[in-house]
Amino acid sequence: MTYQGLILSVVFIMLCRTEAELVTQKKVVEVGGNVTLSCLLMGSYEILQVTWQKKNTGVNENLATYSLSKGINIAETYRGRLNFTRLSLNDTAITLWRARIQDDGCYTCLFNTFPDGAIPQHTCLTVYEQLRGSLHYVVSEGNLTATCSATAWPRPVISWIVPKAESEQTEEVITHPNGTVSVISKLYVNSSTSLAGQLLICRVQHMERDRDYSVKVKDGRWFSVPWFLATVVLLIVFVVLVLTVVCWRRRRKKQSEFRAS
Ligand SMILES: *[C@@H]1O[C@H](CO)[C@@H](O)[C@H](O)[C@H]1NC(C)=O
Ligand SMILES: *[C@@H]1O[C@H](CO)[C@@H](O)[C@H](O)[C@H]1NC(C)=O
Ligand SMILES: *[C@@H]1O[C@H](CO)[C@@H](O)[C@H](O)[C@H]1NC(C)=O
Ligand SMILES: *[C@@H]1O[C@H](CO)[C@@H](O)[C@H](O)[C@H]1NC(C)=O
Ligand SMILES: *[C@@H]1O[C@H](CO)[C@@H](O)[C@H](O)[C@H]1NC(C)=O
Ligand SMILES: *[C@@H]1O[C@H](CO)[C@@H](O)[C@H](O)[C@H]1NC(C)=O
Repeated sequence: MTYQGLILSVVFIMLCRTEAELVTQKKVVEVGGNVTLSCLLMGSYEILQVTWQKKNTGVNENLATYSLSKGINIAETYRGRLNFTRLSLNDTAITLWRARIQDDGCYTCLFNTFPDGAIPQHTCLTVYEQLRGSLHYVVSEGNLTATCSATAWPRPVISWIVPKAESEQTEEVITHPNGTVSVISKLYVNSSTSLAGQLLICRVQHMERDRDYSVKVKDGRWFSVPWFLATVVLLIVFVVLVLTVVCWRRRRKKQSEFRAS
């Protein structure tokens, strides 16, 4: 073999290897849904066993194996929730039922071949939970506090689009036992009157999409206590006046009837 020929074949082998290792499938499933991961090994290999693993930080966890001699073996923690749905050594698939957030991550299928050894393929699974969000605000002593909360998985990201006004923000992140994440962002503005009639927008980014929650700030003065009280008092006075007039007219009518008879 010539020198150039050798270099070419080395390059060719490297290209093939990186291609085989870089091809990573991507799958997406909603929490509670079912998903099938599959691998196909082209070419004529003698495959002894197929092993499915989950890549966890540090170690790979064995989920399931299949070989002609030993048949199907599913890891204890996955029994009833995972099974092979394509049983062939060179064309394999597993199905995960009722996906959980904990299933989010990357998976490897290993073809144990003879004499080439283990040939891996990779699949990454994104488990998502639908976004639920809300936005509301309160005004107290002229200070406005707006609260935007977003619950989802992957973790939603909150940003505010607000009119120019001096404001402060705080953010709290809660991870629930089932893996869902809630982000609660609060916006504080002193002197809410500067915001009257303006739009507050809370933009939530989730799964590479933006969703806006918006609210229009009412003219705070109408809701301040003195005005509210004044309105109530005026209403009561009006009702009492109307009732008095009605009673008075009835009495007069009765008295005139009495006189006539
Ligand atoms: C998941 O699979 C189960 C059992 O096959 C089925 O009853 C259920 O409807 C499936 N769920 C979805 C979201 O497809
Ligand atoms: C898988 O193996 C079968 C025989 O076991 C063979 O007929 C088929 O062509 C193989 N598929 C691929 C894609 O190599
Ligand atoms: C798993 O799948 C195989 C065939 O693909 C089937 O024979 C077996 O009964 C399944 N196991 C369970 C627990 O459903
Ligand atoms: C709002 O008022 C509080 C209390 O006076 C003060 O601590 C805070 O810095 C003010 N925030 C802004 C954004 O002006
Ligand atoms: C996870 O827990 C949170 C808080 O308890 C709840 O709001 C959410 O619906 C749960 N998600 C699922 C998929 O059960
Ligand atoms: C409202 O903001 C003013 C400063 O603008 C501050 O003095 C006052 O304490 C704040 N009131 C409340 C209830 O936070």
